[in-house]
Amino acid sequence: MVARTMLIAFLVLLTYLSVTNASNITTDEASLLAFKAQITSDPNEMLSKNWTKGTHICNWIGISCSKKVTSLVLKSFGFRGSIATDIGNLSFLNSLDIGNNSFHGQIPDEIGRLRRLKYLYLQMNNLTGQIPQSLGFLTRLQVLHLSENRLFGNVPLSIFSVSSLKDIDLSQNYELTGSLPNEICSNLPVLEYISLQDNQFVGELPKGLNKCTKLEVLSLSYNKFTGNLPRDMWNMSKVQELFIGWNNFTGDIPNEMNLPSIRKLSLRRNELVGTLPPSLGNLSTLVMIDIGENKIHGNIPPQLGHLSSLEGLYLGSNALSDQEKWAKIKAVLKVGAQGSSILATTRLETVGSIMGTWQPYQLSILSLEDCWLLFKQRAFGHQTETNPDLVGIGKEIVKKCGGCASSSQDSWRSFKLQEGRNMGTCER
Ligand SMILES: *[C@@H]1O[C@H](CO)[C@@H](O)[C@H](O)[C@H]1NC(C)=O
Ligand SMILES: *[C@@H]1O[C@H](CO)[C@@H](O)[C@H](O)[C@H]1NC(C)=O
Ligand SMILES: *[C@@H]1O[C@H](CO)[C@@H](O)[C@H](O)[C@H]1NC(C)=O
Ligand SMILES: *[C@@H]1O[C@H](CO)[C@@H](O)[C@H](O)[C@H]1NC(C)=O
Ligand SMILES: *[C@@H]1O[C@H](CO)[C@@H](O)[C@H](O)[C@H]1NC(C)=O
Ligand SMILES: *[C@@H]1O[C@H](CO)[C@@H](O)[C@H](O)[C@H]1NC(C)=O
Ligand SMILES: *[C@@H]1O[C@H](CO)[C@@H](O)[C@H](O)[C@H]1NC(C)=O
Ligand SMILES: *[C@@H]1O[C@H](CO)[C@@H](O)[C@H](O)[C@H]1NC(C)=O
Repeated sequence: MVARTMLIAFLVLLTYLSVTNASNITTDEASLLAFKAQITSDPNEMLSKNWTKGTHICNWIGISCSKKVTSLVLKSFGFRGSIATDIGNLSFLNSLDIGNNSFHGQIPDEIGRLRRLKYLYLQMNNLTGQIPQSLGFLTRLQVLHLSENRLFGNVPLSIFSVSSLKDIDLSQNYELTGSLPNEICSNLPVLEYISLQDNQFVGELPKGLNKCTKLEVLSLSYNKFTGNLPRDMWNMSKVQELFIGWNNFTGDIPNEMNLPSIRKLSLRRNELVGTLPPSLGNLSTLVMIDIGENKIHGNIPPQLGHLSSLEGLYLGSNALSDQEKWAKIKAVLKVGAQGSSILATTRLETVGSIMGTWQPYQLSILSLEDCWLLFKQRAFGHQTETNPDLVGIGKEIVKKCGGCASSSQDSWRSFKLQEGRNMGTCER
């Protein structure tokens, strides 16, 4: 009897579901045509020539199907327009990628209806408004890329509880704000990458960051974070890149560190105090370390010389920089990686000349090319061929800094080139 009642209930439920979910490939076609209708510019006539009534939608460019439309990938097509809300009707979609176009307007709330969505790429567009709360309903979402848009306002907390998220990039919106919730690591147990760089995030870093056991990249540079760096931040087993420069962090760098995978560490331009701990020299995987523009004092520990993979060391504009000590560090670093180039950036002419790379030149009349040649010679000597990465970085520095108009007295924001995908700028 009970079983029969349950069976009937089940059948009623099934009927209900099939009625409310009465979508088929025809409704998908209607949704895609609605999406197409809101694209006002299609410079390569991708859609106008290809998304035509005569052909089956599963053969349309950018579409993949498995009975229904499962994937919509139209990145880098130069489209202009807004995102039609009807996109939320593509109920079997698991991948939506319309990055690197010129979509404007808001991210439709309706995207939150795409419960099967795993990948959402909307980066490098002109989207504005707030990030919809409804994205928190996307319980299978693994990748959320919203970087390089004009989104603003508070980031809804719902996003930081989508437990399937591995990769979150909200960087370079400049006006997004909010803070990192304390539960972030328990709510996002598989998080591998998070970048909030170049925004207006505030508050302190949560405790318990060591519980993000899969986290490889934490990029929070250029925000308004405050407070002491929590001890747990120095105890992350998988972290390779830790970028927290250009904030307002206080406190010191502890001697107890457990960062066995760290490659790049930037703490630049904060309010950090204390001394450089000798155990920095234990972080043998370090390639780049930038502690410039803080209030660190004392000696440069000779243990830094153990960092055999180091290619970049930035300590300028701290209370460390007296001539004798810089002469010492130069000696120390001679034992560094064979063929490695150390770019030491500094505001102080004296330090520049001690390091033997920078001479204070005032050469604003040189062409960009001449300037690059000079930079190359000063910075790398004759080993340019050995590290194309550094050459690229150097060229970017020269270009973004307006050639040689900035002399060595400026502090090059060169690290930004590393962490900010070649978005280098120059500070005067
Ligand atoms: C799709 O569903 C609509 C009604 O929801 C129906 O009219 C149409 O015939 C269906 N198309 C296919 C191909 O099943
Ligand atoms: C998408 O769904 C909404 C809400 O159910 C509906 O109003 C709209 O007409 C649908 N769009 C298309 C193109 O079918
Ligand atoms: C649309 O583009 C797809 C993928 O490039 C191609 O296979 C298809 O033949 C094109 N259809 C038309 C009508 O041009
Ligand atoms: C962005 O799209 C343009 C074409 O519209 C392309 O030239 C460029 O390489 C793309 N950039 C990226 C980062 O994908
Ligand atoms: C983005 O929108 C602004 C303001 O509407 C406009 O000036 C700008 O050209 C747009 N940029 C792109 C890449 O579409
Ligand atoms: C470091 O983090 C691990 C978890 O990742 C934890 O088990 C360990 O106790 C922490 N060590 C310290 C000194 O906090
Ligand atoms: C950073 O902190 C200092 C001292 O605590 C304060 O004077 C300054 O205004 C803060 N800067 C920002 C950008 O919040
Ligand atoms: C780290 O470095 C310090 C000082 O150089 C040293 O005393 C300590 O034994 C090192 N710790 C580990 C775990 O290697």
